[in-house]
Amino acid sequence: MPYSYKNKISRWDWYDAPSVTSTNDSIKELIDAKNQYIVLSAKRQTKGRGRRGNSWQEMEGNLYFTYSCEIALKDLSRYVCLTGLSLALAVKNLLPANKVEIKWPNDVFVEDKKISGILFENISNNLWAIGIGVNIKGAPKLAAGSYAATSLKELGADTDRTEFLKAYLEMFEDIITQYEHKGFAPLKEKWLSLAKNLNKEVSIKVENNLKTGIFLTLDDNGYLLLKTDNKTEQIIVGDLFTDKNRE
Ligand code: BTN
Repeated sequence: MPYSYKNKISRWDWYDAPSVTSTNDSIKELIDAKNQYIVLSAKRQTKGRGRRGNSWQEMEGNLYFTYSCEIALKDLSRYVCLTGLSLALAVKNLLPANKVEIKWPNDVFVEDKKISGILFENISNNLWAIGIGVNIKGAPKLAAGSYAATSLKELGADTDRTEFLKAYLEMFEDIITQYEHKGFAPLKEKWLSLAKNLNKEVSIKVENNLKTGIFLTLDDNGYLLLKTDNKTEQIIVGDLFTDKNRE
């Protein structure tokens, strides 16, 4: 059995593996009709992937995990934002004096360097795989022209992959409980208070179109509102760029 069962973290049954190609793929082997709430972490991930077909490089001691979550399609963009918020708050708890920001929709940056990324992929119907990579011990060197990366260790935070995994899932559970009880509005305000590039000019690649405008806010669905020359556009999915921060 390549996966060893550890224990429960909040509602998720936690498995850990010595090495997988991608936790976003391997999680599918652990989900069955009886249990849909699984989290799978791996010490090594040999073919990790990021958004837009990028690869996600491995480094010893970093965290790679995927958990499953039931999300109705109408809630999807809000959950995409809430994962980023949970991650940013888990990082902020370890680095209270640092500038921790969320780059739309859910990348977390510290002191303008990327520390983690999130990849949502559909498993079936309303069941989603949420894959997260966090630079715990090291920051991979990325291609020229890409954003700079950092790690929790480099910034002085003393934690390890399993401790951070627990802290994140407990934070996510707490945020989702708040969402279910109080709705999106207060969490949207929290998200906006940590947003990178808010009220600034940004360019967003939506399929093959580049749209440039001012990042005004999020709407109640979690969509980004972009003020272009003569109108305000709702952006559901895309990749955000600034001059300084190409991706
Ligand atoms: C991004 O910023 O482009 C998203 C990166 C997501 C990486 C994580 S690592 C765990 C999970 N397994 C993968 O293959 N990708 C995600």
